Amino acid sequence: MIKPEIVEAKQVGEIITQIEQNGFTIRALELVQLEIEDAEEFYAVHQDRPFYKDLCTYMSSGPVVAMVLEKDNAVAEFRKFIGATNPAEANEGTIRKQFGKSIEENAIHGSDADETALEEIEFFFPGMLE
Ligand code: CMP
Repeated sequence: MIKPEIVEAKQVGEIITQIEQNGFTIRALELVQLEIEDAEEFYAVHQDRPFYKDLCTYMSSGPVVAMVLEKDNAVAEFRKFIGATNPAEANEGTIRKQFGKSIEENAIHGSDADETALEEIEFFFPGMLE
């Protein structure tokens, strides 16, 4: 999921270009405006963390780009490709290093495990996996 600050900054195309150049195939893509309740549901796993409320407010502040990407070992490969959660700690060349502004405005979200990816695909593209 490409985050709101990237849509606002008109950098969606640059990021999608890099996604494709790194061997990921786009299987689904949608520009979505999340309501705060949607963001709360998507990030429910973080509901007890101090940053949860701010994160949900931010993630519903403008449209995001949700994508389903395919590649061998896609979840782990994508995590490597986007880099550490905090852009300041991300490796050179990663998406978060190049485009992230802060730990919250870190450009992009990637599923953290195969099981989570299935839930997140169902969240944005209900029925796609049936
Ligand atoms: P994301 O991959 O979208 O998953 C949860 C998000 O919470 C994370 O990226 C960050 O943008 C955000 N976040 C904000 N503060 C923190 C923090 N202190 N630790 C981890 N994640 C944080």
